[in-house]
Amino acid sequence: PKDIGILAMEVYFPQSFVEQSDLEEFDNVSSGKYTIGLGQSRMAVVDDNEDINSICLTAVSRLMMRTRLPYSAIGRLEVGTETIIDKSKATKTVLMQLFANSGNTDVEGIDTTNACYGGTAALFNTVAWMEGSSWCGRYGIVVAADIAVYGTKAARPTGGCAAIAMLVGPNAPVYLEPGLRSSHFEHVYDFYKPDFSSEYPAVDGRLSATCFTRALDTCYRRLQERGAALRPNETPVDTGSLDYLVFHSPYLKLVRKSVSRLAYLDYVAAAAKSPELAATRFPQVSAELQQLVAESTPETNRDCAALEAGFRKVSSGLWSDKVSPATLIAKNVGNSYTASAYASLASVLASEPLDKLAGARLMVFSYGSGLASSMFCLRVRGPAIPVGLEDLAARLNARTAVSPQHFTDALSRREAAHGAASFSPVASHQDTIAPSTFFLSHINDRHHRAYAYK
Ligand code: ACO
Repeated sequence: PKDIGILAMEVYFPQSFVEQSDLEEFDNVSSGKYTIGLGQSRMAVVDDNEDINSICLTAVSRLMMRTRLPYSAIGRLEVGTETIIDKSKATKTVLMQLFANSGNTDVEGIDTTNACYGGTAALFNTVAWMEGSSWCGRYGIVVAADIAVYGTKAARPTGGCAAIAMLVGPNAPVYLEPGLRSSHFEHVYDFYKPDFSSEYPAVDGRLSATCFTRALDTCYRRLQERGAALRPNETPVDTGSLDYLVFHSPYLKLVRKSVSRLAYLDYVAAAAKSPELAATRFPQVSAELQQLVAESTPETNRDCAALEAGFRKVSSGLWSDKVSPATLIAKNVGNSYTASAYASLASVLASEPLDKLAGARLMVFSYGSGLASSMFCLRVRGPAIPVGLEDLAARLNARTAVSPQHFTDALSRREAAHGAASFSPVASHQDTIAPSTFFLSHINDRHHRAYAYK
């Protein structure tokens, strides 16, 4: 099979959101801290009647309705998530309920977990299955989904929620470029979930940002080396030759800093070849900034605020042309962990004109704390994108605003629901659930979960 990639995408996010500006007032922090300081506008609010299973059921069922494919056409279904409600039973097995009427139980794949990276592992696995000797000619579905909630006030505005289901197959409008992939994995405690009695992570936000940048640097360098080895006669892979940059987004300020970082790395690479080349390609780099670059190395200056600020100016065009179209969901929904990089992908595909997207090369950077990270390239084949993104912006605008107090109460209700048995959600599906959506209706005394469909 050729051009294996994404044929259709279903993006689910909750019906309720809280305005980050309202949250700033409610939290009594300075005005602009969340909206400008973190770069976030709105955040999805999830109540006690949604869980990881319900949001994945919704994403997969809507994907199948939209594509009109029979469930028998699916040979693999894999879920990437870090929202764990059962230490043994995978969300994938819950999704098999959707296949029951079709009689198709021959569906490979299971859940994959490491912070925000599971969706990427699921995608790579599914593509490898399709390229290998066990492929049966049927489609794969990759689900990347998470509910991101935090216990501490500082981290709370960086929550969010989304579930993305992707139909994977050959001859896809957006396909993975064979070979153009790099990874960086290491052992670090930047964000993890050691407390099984709580849904909240243990997080060191500043360490996580440092790890993210280190992973970005390493993946970018390796991707460039891979590109040069594969196609020595082609233009090098860098921010000049890539058409769009798609990031995992814990909060948009970190993505903005990452773009400054890539501009800096490209400048250093150009300057190493010749000062003239660097001056031609980066005329905006001032003498002061050149001096700052000369005083350090990429390994020693990752936390240098002056350098970041300087290259933020240098990369303002890069940001608006090649990154900002990918920020629609991250800005309005918040962090969706494993779904986040794919939410950024969906955003750019839904926002940009088809003639601009045709033939474009997109770089995707996927980061999961702990840490696991990969960078890879996607190509848009022609003037077509995966189905399912037509109504994305309209659905984002049709959500319901809730107050910060409601958001705080919803988190308290989720705390009460976590690990509960003999439990019925307090939140009413009338208020919080959109049509064509699954929601949790009851958990019995043996922890069996039942879902209803609105
Ligand atoms: N107007 C404009 N900007 C402001 C304002 C204001 N009124 N107030 C603060 N800022 C800026 C700050 O200058 C800072 O910007 P900088 O980073 O460019 O210096 C930014 O807003 C954030 O302010 P801080 O004081 O650093 O924020 P705080 O310490 O309260 O927390 C943090 C921020 C660390 C991001 C916190 O929200 C957090 O830990 N979140 C969790 C993030 C995370 O690690 N997620 C997991 C990553 S990996 C994954 O997705 C699993």
